[in-house]
Amino acid sequence: MSKVAIVGAGAVGMTYANTLVAGDLVDEIAIIDLNKEKTQANAWDLLHAVPYLSTSPKKITSADYDTCRDADIVVITANARAATFDEKPDRLKLLEANVKMIQTITMSVMASGFNGIFLVASNPVDVISQVIAECSGLPKKQIIGTGTLLETARLKDMIAENLDVSPKNIHGYVLGEHGNSSFSAWSTMMIGALSLKTWLERHPENALADFDYYDRRVREIGFDIFNGKGNTSYGIASVLARLTMAITRDEKAILPVSTYLSGEYGVFGVYIGAPAVIDAKGVREVLILDLLDEELEHYKKSAAILKSNVESIKK
Ligand code: 2OP
Repeated sequence: MSKVAIVGAGAVGMTYANTLVAGDLVDEIAIIDLNKEKTQANAWDLLHAVPYLSTSPKKITSADYDTCRDADIVVITANARAATFDEKPDRLKLLEANVKMIQTITMSVMASGFNGIFLVASNPVDVISQVIAECSGLPKKQIIGTGTLLETARLKDMIAENLDVSPKNIHGYVLGEHGNSSFSAWSTMMIGALSLKTWLERHPENALADFDYYDRRVREIGFDIFNGKGNTSYGIASVLARLTMAITRDEKAILPVSTYLSGEYGVFGVYIGAPAVIDAKGVREVLILDLLDEELEHYKKSAAILKSNVESIKK
C-alpha cells in the first residue's frame, strides 16, 4: 500500500493529488494544511473523482502531521503566502518568506517519526530542499527537489514542436537552479538515438531557432504562465507524479532532480538540478555527464548563486 502526505492544499498540491487519483498512482493520500476546511473539502472532492477515475479504492483524508508516520512520501508544496513576482522575477526572492515556515513544517513531519522520502516543490526549490535536508537530519538521498525536471519538460516541448517529433523522444537536460541560472545542456540533447547536432545536419529544414532563444524561453515561460493564471500547476504536478512513480515503483529512473552534490561537476555542498537515478530509497546516484567546459562553467555559476542563498539563511 503506497501512501503520500501532501503539505499545502494549494493549486500545486491539489493538482498533484488529482493527478494521483486520475492515474491511480497511490493507495492513500493525506492532505495537510492550516486551513482544515479547505483540506476536508479537497479530500471529499477528490473522493468523488475516484468512482470514475481510479480502478482501485482510495483512502483520502484531511490530516494532521501525525499521518506522516507511515507515509512513504511527504510532498512539500506550501508557500508562506501567495507567491508574487516583480518586474525582475526571481524564485529566490521567495526564500525569506518561506524558510521559517518550511523549517516548522519539517520539524512537524519529523515529530511523527517519518523516515520516508521528502519530495519538494516549494520555491526556491533547490534552497528549500537543502533547508529540509538540514532540518530533518535524514540522509540527503531522501530529500528530492523537483529540480530542473520542469525546465527540461518545457525545453522538450519547444524542441518537439520545432522538429515535429514527440517530446517523449527528445532526451537531455536543463541543469542547475530551478530558476534564472538554469542552463540547457545542449551537448546532452538526443532526438531518439541521434544527437541533436546530427539531426539538424540531416534536417536542414529544421534549422532550430537560435539555441539561446530556447534557453531563455525555458527560464521565462514559468513567469508567463504565472502572470497569466496566477500560478503554475499542471506541469509541476506531473513532475511530482513522475517522481512519485519512480519511487513507489522502484523504477531506477534517471531524472534531473534537485539533489545534493558533493563534488560532481566541480560542485560541492549544495542542492542543485542534476541527473540522478531515482529508486524506492530516493537518489541512488548522480550521473556524471560529459559536459562541455562552457556547460560546466554554467553549473558552477548556478551553484555559487544557490550557495550564497543557503548562506544568507544562516546569517
Ligand atoms: C514553475 O516554474 C513557478 O517554479 C514554478 O512553474
